[in-house]
Amino acid sequence: MTDLSPYRVKEMTDYQGDVEGASTPMELYEKLSEQGGKVRSLKSAEADKAEVDAAVQLLLQLKMDYKQMTGQDYKAGCPPSVNDAAPNNGPAADGAGEDDTVDPWTVSTTNATGVDYDKLIVRFGSSKIDQELVDRIEKVCGQKPHRFLRRGIFFSHRDMHQVLDAYEKHQSFYLYTGRGPSSEAMHVGHLIPFIFTKWLQDVFDIPLVIQLTDDEKYLWKDLTVEECHGYAIENTKDIIACGFDINKTFIFSDLDYMGSSPEFYRNVVKIQKHVTFNQVKGIFGFTDSDCIGKISFPAIQAAPSFSNSFPHIFGSRQDIQCLIPCAIDQDPYFRMTRDVAPRIGYPKPALLHSTFFPALQGAQTKMSASDANSSIFLTDTPKQIKNKVNKHAFSGGKDTVEEHRKYGGNADVDVCFMYLTFFLEDDEQLEKIRQDYTSGALLTGELKKILIETLQPMIAQHQERRKQVTDELVKQFMTPRPLNFNL
Ligand code: TYM
Repeated sequence: MTDLSPYRVKEMTDYQGDVEGASTPMELYEKLSEQGGKVRSLKSAEADKAEVDAAVQLLLQLKMDYKQMTGQDYKAGCPPSVNDAAPNNGPAADGAGEDDTVDPWTVSTTNATGVDYDKLIVRFGSSKIDQELVDRIEKVCGQKPHRFLRRGIFFSHRDMHQVLDAYEKHQSFYLYTGRGPSSEAMHVGHLIPFIFTKWLQDVFDIPLVIQLTDDEKYLWKDLTVEECHGYAIENTKDIIACGFDINKTFIFSDLDYMGSSPEFYRNVVKIQKHVTFNQVKGIFGFTDSDCIGKISFPAIQAAPSFSNSFPHIFGSRQDIQCLIPCAIDQDPYFRMTRDVAPRIGYPKPALLHSTFFPALQGAQTKMSASDANSSIFLTDTPKQIKNKVNKHAFSGGKDTVEEHRKYGGNADVDVCFMYLTFFLEDDEQLEKIRQDYTSGALLTGELKKILIETLQPMIAQHQERRKQVTDELVKQFMTPRPLNFNL
């Protein structure tokens, strides 16, 4: 028996409540990892036998539940694959979904058309953005839905109907998104959540906070604190160049804001108190040899989801609903946040998740700054864009012109076509390109040319807008101050 037992009993009580809420394979896997850790620590602390037995019983029950839900035995360190998530659907005919990995650090699949997002929704326990929701967003905001909504690029959500219900009753909300500044140059994939967030800010006319996690990048990468802070400032210029309204947007570096805002830090410690090491091990795969900064970092990414972290914007109000647009790789942070929120008396943040902008080499991985050849950077020249697309973009075309004319190309695996679905505004033009490419009327070289001619001006215009961003403007966006809105 150790003097820690009263805390453990409390943890077990909290935990029992959580088990009932584990409705997806991933949630159950996370609970199991946590419980496994608890059993190990009770045993190594030579805790009271009854306490150990109760914890083991719970572990066994969870293992049985897991087997029933996924058809698989639980294995520590092996999160459920997408396929485990839907045992009743039978194996995917083309093998799609097997071995998909999606977390904040890795996105990979063996499938040339990309991650199986429908299965990911089942696995993560989120909801699909269906036509009904797209129509509802259109009705509530009174604007044509953004192409990312029309084309299923933002494909998954948590509680978006609740956000719209409240908005219709004149209860507004705020937006929160972010960037981990690991290098000076952002790539076009990073623009996706920011482009969409800007649209949401415009059509709903609401405040926005943007977190630059320079602390996260210092903890994860081989960089100095000064380098990470410098990248945060450089990346802020790219973010401002997306066109955010200075009267409604606060951008902050964790390294600066954390130390200046007692309210923010109070929320960080509240979150830290309600998440155990075992939980973050289960969610993020941390190990005993990860530094303690990494282990506590998720609380820092969670804190902006609560309105009283920003007293200069929201005063002491802690009830303002937060909506987070991001790619689905960030969801683990917000599953954790949503689990903690009611326990510390705050509303759960709602989410809108996007698919990944693929690497040039194909949709098996996302575009990632750590692989320069996989990415088109916002700093690339027209010539670099042309060379990268011509040299690296994976093609769904046939090997020879004759074959291509005869059999047509496969737009579903063609990276140029995928990029056009993100950036070409005109639905009819996009559909015509698809049909012509599939029939063989449009050749791979011609498709590449269309993409190059779409990207070159888009990136040149971004660079032009970025040039207009002065140090003074950056300072204004990053100064804690009241914002202009009606909630
Ligand atoms: P980071 O810097 O990895 O990514 C910034 C944002 O871009 C999204 N993203 C992508 N979207 C589409 N296609 C891609 N290939 C692609 N690569 C990245 C990410 O999902 C993210 O929305 N820890 C975070 C920073 C952060 C954050 C947040 C992000 C802090 N608070 C709140 C979103 C919401 C990070 O390192 O993001």
